[in-house]
Amino acid sequence: MRSIVPREKIIVALDVPTKAAALELVAQLGSEISFFKIGLQLYTAEGPEIVRAVLAAGAKVFLDLKLHDIPNTVAKAVESASQLGVQMLTIHLTGGAEMIRAAIAGRKNNMSILGVTVLTSANEQTLRETGVSDKIDNHVLRLAKLGVTTGIDGVVASPHEIKMLRAEFGDQIKIVVPGIRPSWSEPGDQKRVMTPREALHAGADYLVIGRPIVTHPQPREAIARIFDELSALS
Ligand code: C5P
Repeated sequence: MRSIVPREKIIVALDVPTKAAALELVAQLGSEISFFKIGLQLYTAEGPEIVRAVLAAGAKVFLDLKLHDIPNTVAKAVESASQLGVQMLTIHLTGGAEMIRAAIAGRKNNMSILGVTVLTSANEQTLRETGVSDKIDNHVLRLAKLGVTTGIDGVVASPHEIKMLRAEFGDQIKIVVPGIRPSWSEPGDQKRVMTPREALHAGADYLVIGRPIVTHPQPREAIARIFDELSALS
């Protein structure tokens, strides 16, 4: 089995509307969690200042902007993100090889660039609407192969895709997995969920967990329960 160090494998999604709320969570959880995800909601509200503030608190940042634009624009945005000092950034692999190569060329340091294949909110109907007639798994694998051959560092994947991706790419890529629900939490709008334990067993490198922690009345208690559940693994 892969070696498991749960604390370093959990990324808390700061899906809150303001800098104040985000920094309050970082302060509350900082002794337990060292990696936080800043996504479109918080970034659009607070801009790069919130990224600098979380980094200044001593944490690592996964900037989940899911970039998808013309290659030159993506390259420049990647350059800005790497200058901010974040550890991981997402791009959409549907942007194609030229855009992915431009993203990688835009990076100015060792920031990891992760590819999004098919969003976990999408189903086959969504693929049909956008002109893709293949099954979701085939399309995920096709996009992941495109990303790996053009040099990305990892992918964001649904928990149910982990095994397929590990079988195809081994340890060549990082696999970062949202859609995680501890057994005691509500699934919300996430449809095909796994527990933290199941996802790490399947081979995930990092788990992204939002609402089970962020909307819990006692976020530290939620983290403690997750660690308890995982400690049985190590
Ligand atoms: O609250 P929850 O644990 O569902 O949060 C999951 C986080 O991961 C959210 O920030 C969401 O935007 C993100 N995400 C996702 N599915 C993807 C990519 C990112 O749920 N395919």
